[in-house]
Amino acid sequence: MVDRAARDFARVGVIGLGTMGAGIVEVVARTGLDVVAVEVDHAGTARGREALEHSTARAVERGKLTPDEAAAVHARVRYATSLDAVAGCGLVVEAVPEHLELKKDIFAALDRLVGPETVLATNTSSLSVTEIAVATANPRRVVGLHFFNPAPVLSFVEVIRTVVTDEGVVSDVVELARQLGKQPVVVGDKAGFIANALLFGYLNHAVSMYETRYASREDVDAAMRLGCGLPMGPLALMDLIGLDTAYEILDTMYRQGRDRLHAPSPLIKQMVSAGLRGRKTGRGFYTYAEPGSSAVVPDALTPSASVWGAGRCGR
Ligand code: 3HC
Repeated sequence: MVDRAARDFARVGVIGLGTMGAGIVEVVARTGLDVVAVEVDHAGTARGREALEHSTARAVERGKLTPDEAAAVHARVRYATSLDAVAGCGLVVEAVPEHLELKKDIFAALDRLVGPETVLATNTSSLSVTEIAVATANPRRVVGLHFFNPAPVLSFVEVIRTVVTDEGVVSDVVELARQLGKQPVVVGDKAGFIANALLFGYLNHAVSMYETRYASREDVDAAMRLGCGLPMGPLALMDLIGLDTAYEILDTMYRQGRDRLHAPSPLIKQMVSAGLRGRKTGRGFYTYAEPGSSAVVPDALTPSASVWGAGRCGR
């Protein structure tokens, strides 16, 4: 076998600083690599910077990072509002909303901007990596690199290989994922890959139980948290993922597989239209102290203390 020098991933571009993108920036910067973090406007980069500040401040409070280490993490991240800024990166990870045409446009533009050795990765949850790849002149350098929310905490990533992805690209990205502290698995390009294909039918079913008033949100979540030992219930998890993202994933999976398990429960779309998108907007299935907060506060649907007892919470 011919020895091949691994690619240089010392500088990584991240496109889109929403929940996932901001988490990916943190993972990469905390590993000691430089990051170019791109959003469409200054409000977007400010949100990305705030997310990183919030997360590193919490890590400092909990003694996981020293103030100097936190400062070094911030110093490694350069924010930009133009795709051109990633021109010198060895890897670019795209994490924009789940719209195929938007992702294809971004990949076509990136393909013209970056050098021939640069790897282009999409963090798509359910769209076809192959369709995104063929928007470029060189689909061999395109992979999926799918992180899980919260990206700084969850140690699993899926590396998605299309039928044309170069094997060297796959192995270099797997190596990088390990360097980032993740456990990578390589999978083919099938809607939802492994984890979301298993997870989203379950989440959708939970919404449907709640929507048809079979069970309260607290009881649905308690069943899976306390009865099955999961870290959080499905409706709380929908709020963490974001209902808009969950809707897009279900809709894509349903259109691809026609499995009615993935036909989005009507309530999800209604809540998205009403702006109840989960933690990020401060309200989803539960109500949060403020947008972006994980602290649930009582609302009109919270069971009364007389029935539930003080401190009882099913999430
Ligand atoms: N960002 C960064 N760090 C976070 C975080 C966030 N959003 N939320 C929690 N953390 C950190 C905390 O700082 C803490 O770190 P420490 O142990 O170093 O002090 C650690 O995570 C544990 O947090 P907490 O003690 O506050 O809370 P929990 O122990 O309840 O854990 C949780 C919170 C990690 C969110 C846990 O409940 C969990 O793992 N839930 C399931 C999440 C899940 O299933 N995600 C997958 C969603 S599907 C997906 O992402 C695919 C995509 O395509 C949609």
